[in-house]
Amino acid sequence: MQVSEAISSRRSIKQFDAGHRLSAPEIDRLYRNARLAPTSFNIQHVRFIRVTDPELRARIRPLAFDQPQVTDAAELVVVTADVQAWQKNPQRYWRNAGERGPIIVDSLLGFYRGREWLQRDEAIRSGAFAAQNLMLTARELGYDSCPMIGFDIDAVGRLIGLPDDHVVVMMLAIGRAAGPAWERGGDLPASEAVFENAFPQPSVSVA
Ligand SMILES: Cc1cc2nc3c(=O)[nH]c(=O)nc-3n(C[C@H](O)[C@H](O)[C@H](O)COP(=O)(O)O)c2cc1C
Repeated sequence: MQVSEAISSRRSIKQFDAGHRLSAPEIDRLYRNARLAPTSFNIQHVRFIRVTDPELRARIRPLAFDQPQVTDAAELVVVTADVQAWQKNPQRYWRNAGERGPIIVDSLLGFYRGREWLQRDEAIRSGAFAAQNLMLTARELGYDSCPMIGFDIDAVGRLIGLPDDHVVVMMLAIGRAAGPAWERGGDLPASEAVFENAFPQPSVSVA
């Protein structure tokens, strides 16, 4: 499958075949590709919590507005990220970089130190890229997905033992579709979303 086809055929699916399971090689491919997503300074903030326990899924579902994907999809993953990953032995992110390694590590520590908002933004950015890789790989494997933030984030965080210095990025359901996607909700025209060089400026009246 071409990348463009994977992108254009990815839709958020809410009904999944509850009897279908992913094979071990498929699961391996999903998470290998997810972990290849780019991260700033190669910090690799993302931690994936695969919810494989049916009882845990059943406890999460009412916390997620009873969305059926939570219990029915073959794969349910809570995508989380370590906000403090930037300062947890960062030498390991550049261990193959030879003499450039320590320079890059110094640079990354200087970049994030004292900038809490940026540390959190970066963790969320990394998680979002990883989630997109999961969704596109699902398409390549013939599966569908649904990204979700419609759930009680704190309560789900407690159920999965989320460490204090981590954030929940989103939850993702992946599996064999058992129903069609909704009609596309209403795409903005390109003219409202894509600009050259700068935002269009309001015209100034000289009258
Ligand atoms: C961060 C995020 C959270 C979302 N949360 C939910 C959700 O909780 N339940 C749901 O059914 N869809 C959810 N969606 C799906 C969006 O409604 C969907 O992506 C959007 O309507 C565009 O449709 P499409 O994904 O089929 O192209 C979420 C999407 C994103 C990116």
